[in-house]
Amino acid sequence: MTTKNDEILVTVGLGERSYPIRIARGLLGKLGSDIASRKIGNRFCVISDDRVAELYGESLMRSLSGGGLHAEILTFPHGEASKELATIAALARQLAKKGFDRGDALIALGGGVTGDITGFLASVYMRGIPFVQVPTSLLAQVDSSVGGKTGVDIPEGKNLIGTFYQPQAVYIDPDVLSTLPDQEFLGGLAEVIKYGIIRDREFFDFLAVNRKAILALDDSALLPLLERCCEIKANVVEEDEREGGLRRILNFGHTIGHAVEAASNFTLIHGLAISIGMRAATDLAVLGGHCTPEDDLAVRRLLQEFGLPVDIPPKFDRQAIRRFLLTDKKTVGGRVFFVLPQEIGRVIITDKVASTDIDEVLANT
Ligand code: GLY
Repeated sequence: MTTKNDEILVTVGLGERSYPIRIARGLLGKLGSDIASRKIGNRFCVISDDRVAELYGESLMRSLSGGGLHAEILTFPHGEASKELATIAALARQLAKKGFDRGDALIALGGGVTGDITGFLASVYMRGIPFVQVPTSLLAQVDSSVGGKTGVDIPEGKNLIGTFYQPQAVYIDPDVLSTLPDQEFLGGLAEVIKYGIIRDREFFDFLAVNRKAILALDDSALLPLLERCCEIKANVVEEDEREGGLRRILNFGHTIGHAVEAASNFTLIHGLAISIGMRAATDLAVLGGHCTPEDDLAVRRLLQEFGLPVDIPPKFDRQAIRRFLLTDKKTVGGRVFFVLPQEIGRVIITDKVASTDIDEVLANT
């Protein structure tokens, strides 16, 4: 990390494909000149959903033209339902009609859905053109805009079609979080807490101590939070870009969390389901003798202090959750893998979890 003029810079070190993550207030309005200096493309197409485009499209377009860049904007309807191949085809056709070619580039302006759609489109349009991430949700700023996962859903499952394709740069402007709905911010916080549990006890403690400042979007806490999350994500991706091993620790809370999300028919916000999944995974770790009840309690307490859910809503069918666990896309050869804490800051990945322990945790969560 380096800091210059109140700006934080984190680098994702992937050799020739390395890229910067720049974090600064007001960045949206001034990133045009930085993009221009990087010679990323001749022309740019900003891809955004209708809601985010309404809020921030104009400001970004002004910033791009201020940097001397030629840019257009294309939008799609907001929401996960747009994360499908039909959206990719529609956007690709519009790019082709506008004459975008291999010398041009895309800019993702939005949350996780927009980043995934734009990254995937960039990875396949004309066999791949460069793209830039401008994430506008907390979840996208701390997680999905970094690391190059792209993709769309099919009726058979989420993210089942996708690529690993790294952006050229990530620009994070904390100002945009002020318009994020509270529940979306909370969902992002679950992924923030996840980083503490899987990798950094000190960060976990920092979150507990700075809770009020974080919820107030105070720079003293928010900027170090964004920086540390991006650093941890960058380090994990540097070690294991294509999720052959270490990167799987980022799925902490996602095994049971995804099953809970699916059992809610995706009405529960992803991060909130992951919060429940992290509590359940930590309970499982205690039952399996990996982690102490004290750490388990500390995890649950921190989640609750932030207002995150830790219980599966009573109306959810436990048997349905059990079935979804077995069909999770992270199941390998019929084996369900769990990321379990050994202590706060350190996790293991294992499929050696007693079925009776899973039943007990589901019954008591
Ligand atoms: N969000 C998990 C990953 O990027 O690997």
